[in-house]
Amino acid sequence: MISELQKLEKDALAELSAAEAEDQFLNIRTKYLGRKGLLTGLLRNIAQVSDNEKPLFGKLCNELKNSLNSKIDAALLEQANRNKENILLKEKIDVTLPGNAVKYGHIHPVVQIRREICSVFASFGFSIVEGPEIELDYYNFEALNMPKDHPARDMQDTFYIEDNIVLRTHTSPVQVRIMEKVRPPLRILSPGKVYRRDSDVSHTPMFHQIEGLLVDKGVNFGDLKGILSAFLKKIFGSATTLRFRPSFFPFTEPSAEVDIRCVMCGGKGCRVCGQSGWLEILGSGMVDPAVFQNVNYDPEEYSGFAFGLGLERIAMLKYGISDIRLFFENDIRFLKQF
Ligand code: PHE
Repeated sequence: MISELQKLEKDALAELSAAEAEDQFLNIRTKYLGRKGLLTGLLRNIAQVSDNEKPLFGKLCNELKNSLNSKIDAALLEQANRNKENILLKEKIDVTLPGNAVKYGHIHPVVQIRREICSVFASFGFSIVEGPEIELDYYNFEALNMPKDHPARDMQDTFYIEDNIVLRTHTSPVQVRIMEKVRPPLRILSPGKVYRRDSDVSHTPMFHQIEGLLVDKGVNFGDLKGILSAFLKKIFGSATTLRFRPSFFPFTEPSAEVDIRCVMCGGKGCRVCGQSGWLEILGSGMVDPAVFQNVNYDPEEYSGFAFGLGLERIAMLKYGISDIRLFFENDIRFLKQF
């Protein structure tokens, strides 16, 4: 039996020194030391060993078991270290390679235009004010001289939330809210989202507006022309030609639509200006006395002008974009160009 034990030890050591991979070491452990392993089998047959040899045999078996176990552990550890070294050797880092560029975010063209327009009017002394997008019928229409069921309301296709609550169709209600709280003189600019039931290549149900209001003693139509001319020349260039065209808004009297010479064809007539040579840019007018009465301003004492424009329209003209929906599709290839 003892000689069998010695042979078993020799075999195990030979196999161990020939083994290389982790599973080979584990197999050796199972083969010799497992529950059905060879050494375990020998121990089970201890009955066949003569009584005076039994203690020695038992001792040798245990010693072999321990030494095999620790040799296998050591081999496994060494094998793991070798693996790690191999990986480190293979995965060399080339520190001279250029790094991954950080992708910068981009300011949306509509936001760029909003900032540009706000900063022009800030330089004219206007304060930037904001108000709610979900608005009372009163502020969106009634206070602006558009009574319920008046046909003037047809100019703006409205989303109603309840009978008296709408998604604002313009940012003019912000001006009413401010006038209720502040006495003239007043110079305010209200940018923001507005909503109309409208959808085609030049209309989206949500778009952005900027409206302005100036109220003081003795403000006249010449002041309106002066400020709006200076503004449009800053945005479209100092050579911009303007045209004031009579128009109608329920909250201004008189009212004027402001056009500029077509930025695409220079006035010769093209697809963008519908062959007219002019581009409609904004609505404006002298604040109607009825609006002043609604906010307790005395129309005999104060006068003022107001104007409003769509930001997407300005961005489309400035950058030559033909479909308004591109602004809201969030296609990075489109947005990156600005
Ligand atoms: N509120 C008008 C609109 O959205 C624009 C406008 C504002 C016109 C002020 C005249 C004066 O259509």
